[in-house]
Amino acid sequence: MIFRQLFEPETCTYTYLLGCERTRRAVLIDPVASEAEGYLPLLEDLKLCLIYTFETHVHADHITGSDLLRERLGSRSVVHREAGAPCADLLVSDGVLLQVGDLEFLARHIPGHTNGCLSFVMVDRVFTGDALLIGGCGRTDFQQGDAGRLYDSIHEKLFSLPPDTLVYPGHDYAGNTVSTIRQERTKNARLSGRTREDFIALMNGLDLPYPKYIDQAVPANQACGREPARQGG
Ligand SMILES: [Fe+2]
Repeated sequence: MIFRQLFEPETCTYTYLLGCERTRRAVLIDPVASEAEGYLPLLEDLKLCLIYTFETHVHADHITGSDLLRERLGSRSVVHREAGAPCADLLVSDGVLLQVGDLEFLARHIPGHTNGCLSFVMVDRVFTGDALLIGGCGRTDFQQGDAGRLYDSIHEKLFSLPPDTLVYPGHDYAGNTVSTIRQERTKNARLSGRTREDFIALMNGLDLPYPKYIDQAVPANQACGREPARQGG
């Protein structure tokens, strides 16, 4: 398997490139529009054909590159059916298996940060988006956020994975790159050792600032990253 963890420094966003060595088919998880021009030579150097872009959710801090890549490379965008982005090519629900050459990704619905959050599970790793971060989790005070739902979905669908499963998050603000399910179960500052009620109280009391780019990013991402001038066209 070909694997690259790419980093967009302004919003500390991770984008993941995964490619099948045999078929040269590839997927980008959470591509960023401002970085999209850089993905093209990378795919070319690695002799990969981009089949899909997977969105873990409708992001509030950056604009997805999925529409741009769709236009340039013919890739298909994948989002959860409740994400509020009907412009996507595939609207998936919990339990859908996505195949890219020899690579298999199980889509799991992890609501709580947003209604339509997805994690993508492979044999040895999981891409958690903003639902589960290294040592933390996504906020639950915007975009249909619900702390109780997040607690339940993390415990039911992520913490139940084998302990050695690698955890690749959607962001990291401290330079961490990868964790494991075991590490998050035992050391996550928001989740470890907390009851559901404790977690809800903690999340509801965070008092975080209003997200800087949410008013631009959410409508753009609900249109798959399409620029306003091109929307509807
Ligand atoms: Fe998010």
